[in-house]
Amino acid sequence: MNRVYIKTYGCQMNERDSEAVASMLREKGYTILDREEEADVILLNTCSVRDQAEQKAIGKMGYLAKRKRENPNLIIGFMGCMAQNRGATLLDQLPDVDLIVGTQRYHHVPEYLEKLQSQRDEGIPKPSSIVDLEEEEGSQNEIKEHLEGSRKVSAFVSIMQGCNMACRFCIVPKTRGSERSRPIPQIVREVEELAARGTREVTLLGQIVTSYGQGVIPRKDGKGAFVQLLEEIEQIEGIDRIRFTSPHPRGFRQDLADAFRRLNKLCECVHLPLQSGSNRILKAMNRPYSREKYLDIVASLRRSVPDMYFSTDIIVGFPGETEEDFQETCDLFQEVSYDMAYIFKYSPRSGTPAAEMEGDLPDEVKEERNQRLLQLLHENSLRRNQSLVGSVQEVLVEGPSRKGDALMGRTRGNRVVHFPGQDRLIGTLLPVRVDRATVSALYGEPVISESAVAPEEVLSSTSAR
Ligand code: 5AD
Repeated sequence: MNRVYIKTYGCQMNERDSEAVASMLREKGYTILDREEEADVILLNTCSVRDQAEQKAIGKMGYLAKRKRENPNLIIGFMGCMAQNRGATLLDQLPDVDLIVGTQRYHHVPEYLEKLQSQRDEGIPKPSSIVDLEEEEGSQNEIKEHLEGSRKVSAFVSIMQGCNMACRFCIVPKTRGSERSRPIPQIVREVEELAARGTREVTLLGQIVTSYGQGVIPRKDGKGAFVQLLEEIEQIEGIDRIRFTSPHPRGFRQDLADAFRRLNKLCECVHLPLQSGSNRILKAMNRPYSREKYLDIVASLRRSVPDMYFSTDIIVGFPGETEEDFQETCDLFQEVSYDMAYIFKYSPRSGTPAAEMEGDLPDEVKEERNQRLLQLLHENSLRRNQSLVGSVQEVLVEGPSRKGDALMGRTRGNRVVHFPGQDRLIGTLLPVRVDRATVSALYGEPVISESAVAPEEVLSSTSAR
């Protein structure tokens, strides 16, 4: 009765939260499965950002509820953003759900499962559902356990929870609460432990990482709390690469732009959510910057690191978005020439101000704009990848490639590379000469011997440093 399967929807934060829950459960003697068929407990860690994400999880739970009717011992539950957003109302539609746990209470999942199991052991045929959506002070400090065993070359580290911005389209401030940061020493300890277990790359996670420590950790030598944290992680032996997501354009002040030049481990790869290239729409969204200001930030980052890689989030079809507004987004998209982008069709979220706005667009318009941007992205991404053919890239080897017997890894610019090599290379930094490129991946050969690193070759191919 102790086999658990957790299915995760949505962002990296959710992936990280699921992993932390899995780790807590494993410590209590549960077995974590990677398939649901044999599981005694199935938990869905949910996303609320768009309606589609919620519907997917609800559909899945409907199917699980059917299975539970055949096997009443099966325990099924919701965790995460949709649990927080919809709470007990989910039971109206899905009365068989045993557990609904919000975003500040993940770490109580083990005790709730124990409670459900013991009620069952006592012979209570249908224990009443447990719903917990409480806010909890300090809950940001609870997402710290990583699964032992499988060695993770690249790991996520949660540094903060919540968001204080008020973007009119977004449900996240409601589902994740207000900003709460973990203390620097606690994060450093977690990263040191990961390094000791073989992790070489960390991605710092938060809904809005550039607000890290705001109002709690004072500026020091002209540097904000987030940059201070980056500096501390730069010092940790065994860690070779640092990434972070998601920042807010507002957070890219000079101290952070400089950090990209100063800190060798900080990868030259920035996710810079744009949402729209039209000032009118940005204003309607309550995003506190203009297209001009955004382009200034891109320029200052490119001054710091000339071959910076950029990715972004864009919403198409925000209420009232005209063809001209959309064209401005396309123009800006081309000007920055993003290497990667997440493009979303606007989805009204009940309880957000935008859901009350006039001028929601027909799905055909949203879909058509979506396709046009995807086409631009495709071209940009291919162009960038092709420009790397012939260069030697420093690749962090992550594991076996799904393509044949090759290995896969990523460049500092976060491009996926496939190349031949043996498993012992996993977890090393390897110079790889790129000889072929597609939209989504690079293909190449390790340079010289498989294990030797040739720093001068790597340097000569990356103009920035
Ligand atoms: N509709 C569509 N996309 C949305 N996002 C947030 N809210 C919505 C919404 N209501 C997108 C934004 C954000 C990303 C995580 O999800 O682009 O940056």
